[in-house]
Amino acid sequence: MPRKLFVTTALPYANGPFHIGHIMEYTQADIWVRFQRMQGHKIQFVCADDTHGAPIMLKAEAEGIKPEELIGRVAESHKRDLARFGVSFDHFHSTHSDENRQLAGDIFAALKDAGFIANRTIEQFFDPVKGMFLPDRYIKGECPKCGAKDQYGDSCEACGAVYAPTDLKEPFSALTGAKPVMKKSEHFFFRLSDPRCVEFLRGWTQGGRLQPEVANKVREWLDSGLNDWDITRDAPYFGIEIPGTKGKYFYVWLDAPIGYLAALKSHLDRKGVDFAKYLADPKVEQVHFIGKDIIYFHTLFWPAMLKFAGRKVPDNVFVHGFITLSGEKMSKSRGVSISPQRYADLGLNPEWFRYYIAAKLNAHVEDLDFNPDDFLARVNSDLVGKYVNIASRAAGFIAKRFNGKLSDEPLSAGRELRHKLRGNVSAPAADNEEQVPAILFEVRSFADQIAADYDAREFGKAIRQVMFLADRVNQYVDEQKPWEIAKESGQEPALQWFCTLYLELFRILTIYLKPVLPKVAEDVEAFLALAKPLAWEDVGDALKPGHAVQPYRHLLSRIDPKQIEQLLEPPAESKPEPAKGSQAPPASPDGPEFKLEPVEPPKPAPILPVGETISIDDFGKIDLRVARIVDAELVPEAEKLLRLTLDIGVETRTVFAGIRSAYTPKELVGRLTIMVANLAPRKMRFGESQGMVLAAGDGNSIFLLSPDAGATPGMRIK
Ligand code: 2FM
Ligand code: ZN
Repeated sequence: MPRKLFVTTALPYANGPFHIGHIMEYTQADIWVRFQRMQGHKIQFVCADDTHGAPIMLKAEAEGIKPEELIGRVAESHKRDLARFGVSFDHFHSTHSDENRQLAGDIFAALKDAGFIANRTIEQFFDPVKGMFLPDRYIKGECPKCGAKDQYGDSCEACGAVYAPTDLKEPFSALTGAKPVMKKSEHFFFRLSDPRCVEFLRGWTQGGRLQPEVANKVREWLDSGLNDWDITRDAPYFGIEIPGTKGKYFYVWLDAPIGYLAALKSHLDRKGVDFAKYLADPKVEQVHFIGKDIIYFHTLFWPAMLKFAGRKVPDNVFVHGFITLSGEKMSKSRGVSISPQRYADLGLNPEWFRYYIAAKLNAHVEDLDFNPDDFLARVNSDLVGKYVNIASRAAGFIAKRFNGKLSDEPLSAGRELRHKLRGNVSAPAADNEEQVPAILFEVRSFADQIAADYDAREFGKAIRQVMFLADRVNQYVDEQKPWEIAKESGQEPALQWFCTLYLELFRILTIYLKPVLPKVAEDVEAFLALAKPLAWEDVGDALKPGHAVQPYRHLLSRIDPKQIEQLLEPPAESKPEPAKGSQAPPASPDGPEFKLEPVEPPKPAPILPVGETISIDDFGKIDLRVARIVDAELVPEAEKLLRLTLDIGVETRTVFAGIRSAYTPKELVGRLTIMVANLAPRKMRFGESQGMVLAAGDGNSIFLLSPDAGATPGMRIK
């Protein structure tokens, strides 16, 4: 039975171009959606710009334009980037739309009727010059704790204290510099503290649907008690006016998630499908992909709002971590960032990025590190060197020697055929139930496992399996040596048959990679002259005997290291980041601050296939040494790294190691470990890394290696 899936990603603020974190989230959701489509499931995959709120209003004002103009411009830039990165939303809408206005009004009215809206008078800072209530982030003053000047209204950057804006000494408006005055206003609150809400949310969040680390975090919030939520903002505000009021608007975070429904409605209306009927179908699964900073909104406010407005509640919320660059938090002003626009403008292939992201994603709320060297290696050695290589090895022969025609002999012809064709061929046995060459049987047999990994958002696992299979196929080609068969006279049929088999194996690997590499897959479909786009069930099919393929054009180039240099180089026109006040609203203004801690017991390391065989000479090139850690320090600019000073007998080395999550500097000083002593040094922003220490790990935990007692610094490891 096909599943019916309503899938969204978080709605991006319409205040500027996408950053790389957006593209990562869309890529994750897009891979999942494309996989589900390949299974024959019915998907509605929508998104929209999140257009409302004070920051967007003020930004437009600063540019001297209307907010509508700003959001129109941003929408164009967003749509362009979505197309460039192959994100296949069925529809990209806007929260500044009739559908959203209507739905927000309806949901608010339903919540009011059900007794979930409270009316209270609150007192807030007001800027008398600007004539506007000031959100916390627009109030500055002296920290009530340490006295630091020029601190924001919610927390002090100097001492880290968290406080209310009214606690600030000498407060002033960040917009005009005026001294704010206290002013009263009537606000609507959503009664999240209502026992019915709390009871519902306990059931909804703790029933096993959420990722375990997310469910635990939410349980802490529930246990510490939920506050009612202020959903009103006073004019001037760019947003949706609350029906029945004058000058009162819905807070942007109320109408933003309703934008999911508005986008769906607009999409279904265009297709002539009834929106209410669609959502009333109990088979429809509603899932939201989001980042870890907006869990509070999506697991508490949003399901509760829907529930008590009498609507369908989400079935799941899939949370991912942030993207870092070489272990550091991205920050434009510090020059630590990757711009997706620059990436695309420089002509870097978006499928490289999609592949790299996929190879590193799993179903946990873990940060994903974009490491330029690793990016280059994975794309060039794995994707191009292993997968694309299979096609290029076979395609030349098929084109030149057989005029693009595949063998007339079926792949299931069995052993006899190949023996008849070429007695000395060491073809693996074909005694499987399908009577096909063992390599084909093996590659096909991974279909269910890879599918299960995609479905579970374990993309890294899926990619590892595909690369394992690509290795196997290349090994098989190496054993069969088609280039030698090609030199023997009378062996044309064998050569043609083998190359047909390689292309068939390549076709299956393409199915496995299609959710990640839609453009490459499309080019493969054209090259193989397939009658219809590849679906998952086509794994069991095969290219027909005698089928003609198109001339082969190279499917994917390698990354040139220069391209990466250009990508990382700060663009000439790079400007410092604007002050926080002009940025998007903080992620959880009305929810408590949170940090996701790992909560699951460490899992046993996944057993990965053993890597490519290397020679003893290859191994001998690595100069491994026993090293004593004589010093270890935190690196303030990189939260995952430790700076280690290593004594290797003849000299000392500085190494930046990504082991901070597992070790404190104190516990490392004095101990022995193993280092790669002849690794090319690498320049980092905070110094040069002169080698590497060895550790075991599975993505969750890290275990630094050490030699047995008695070893001394400088000893060689062989
Ligand atoms: O955090 C953000 O970027 C918000 N614009 C996300 C909104 S998601 C949904 F609620 F609309
Ligand atoms: Zn302070």
